[in-house]
Amino acid sequence: MEHFQQVEPFDYVIFGATGDLTMRKLLPALYNRLRMDQIPDDACIIGAARTELDREAYVARARDALERFLPSDILSPGLVERFLARLDYVTLDSSREGPQWENLKALLAKTQPDRVRVYYFATAPQLYGGISENLHRYGLITPTSRVVLEKPIGTDMATATAINDGVGQYFPEKQIYRIDHYLGKETVQNVLALRFANPLMNAAWSAEHIESVQITAAETVGVEGRAAYYDTSGALRDMIQNHLLQVLCLVAMEAPDSLEADAVRNAKLAVLNALRPITDATAATETVRAQYTAGVVDGENVPGYLEELGKPSATETYAAIRAWVDTPRWKGVPFYIRTAKRSGRKVSEIVITFRPAATTMFGATPASNRLVLRVQPNEGVELRLNVKNPALDVYNLHTADLDAKIRMEGGMPFPDSYERLLLDAVRGDPVLFIRRDEVEAAWRWAEPILDAWKHDKVPMQTYSAGSYGPEQATRLLAGHGDTWHEAAE
Ligand code: BG6
Repeated sequence: MEHFQQVEPFDYVIFGATGDLTMRKLLPALYNRLRMDQIPDDACIIGAARTELDREAYVARARDALERFLPSDILSPGLVERFLARLDYVTLDSSREGPQWENLKALLAKTQPDRVRVYYFATAPQLYGGISENLHRYGLITPTSRVVLEKPIGTDMATATAINDGVGQYFPEKQIYRIDHYLGKETVQNVLALRFANPLMNAAWSAEHIESVQITAAETVGVEGRAAYYDTSGALRDMIQNHLLQVLCLVAMEAPDSLEADAVRNAKLAVLNALRPITDATAATETVRAQYTAGVVDGENVPGYLEELGKPSATETYAAIRAWVDTPRWKGVPFYIRTAKRSGRKVSEIVITFRPAATTMFGATPASNRLVLRVQPNEGVELRLNVKNPALDVYNLHTADLDAKIRMEGGMPFPDSYERLLLDAVRGDPVLFIRRDEVEAAWRWAEPILDAWKHDKVPMQTYSAGSYGPEQATRLLAGHGDTWHEAAE
């Protein structure tokens, strides 16, 4: 395909190589890029994990993962073999010193020392510092090395600082790529194009014309096999502190001078720094937290969160927040952010509601224009307009939706968000990765909310699995005369 270019030869070392993320996302994403002919034949992908496996056994696991997580029509036997031939494996307890590191060193010594090396940390984040130290100890950090850090970068500011310091001792910031896979999603990247390449949008993109913004990421899945992790995290840490705040930044930021990484990141940072703090005193009016109880999702009975967990818990599986960006552009515009597990529908979207026209010409006030950026599923852009009702002779308005589906050539599905990001690290393009100061600014805003919740300033609500969340979330908007998008349908 002409628009995808092959990257230069590289060595990709994945720590946490037997884990769920590697099997479900990373290996399938790399296979897909090889299928698109972006990965040169002499690239190496080396898995590293504690599990005692030889290369053959790891390759067998990788083959199973491709078969399990990719549609069969894209798995051609020849390509699968070509991909698996790129794989290697070392048994390694990456947080400890030891002779096993020599095996990794020997594999890397087979290729040119100036090749791009990407170290992908898909392990528990508290190990990131230790792995970096060992990479340094064994002389494996070269000038062309990069490290990709999976989320979560900490569970609060102190742990985030410890992780960033631990890695930062051995890798300069420009070699650190903090991944947020929402930034790899097509519609999320499209926010900038839509805003800044379309004067029509750009001219209307401020409090003068915009009444409110909603950012939603709802999933029908529960905590799946990840309850142990999820219960230490919760909806705010898992989705809002990173993914949804990043989306908010792209919606709210001032135009960057260019698409150069630091220009975009500076503009995002300015938004994070302008977020109005939520405190113990305001948390009860600005935030809602809840847990799902038993219910029906996609026609199936599913248990409640506490039943799944088998113990009491104060972890939220739903969070909704009314955020304010205190800049002149956004004065008085609420940004509603919410995320849910076990919601009635899987949907991620950005909904911009414009102020209604002030005209009295048509009798009743015209409906607000509403722009919906569908992140997933059905990537696209929808705009609600007022038009004359053709069924009536009198001048009566009704609404009509312009619906632009954004598709790949030939109707192919979009690449998974990991695909582009994994190769951006090889290309050395950090624009879709998060800089340290962004992570810290996001924690600075999120931590007081978590504290208020910890101190029970906001009661834990419940919602039935398969519903759209608790009643209190509806009230969060009602004060401004707003409703959540699905309720307005
Ligand atoms: C991950 C969270 O970062 O994002 C998961 O840890 C969540 O809990 C996932 O399910 C959602 O990603 P997507 O791409 O399916 O919206």
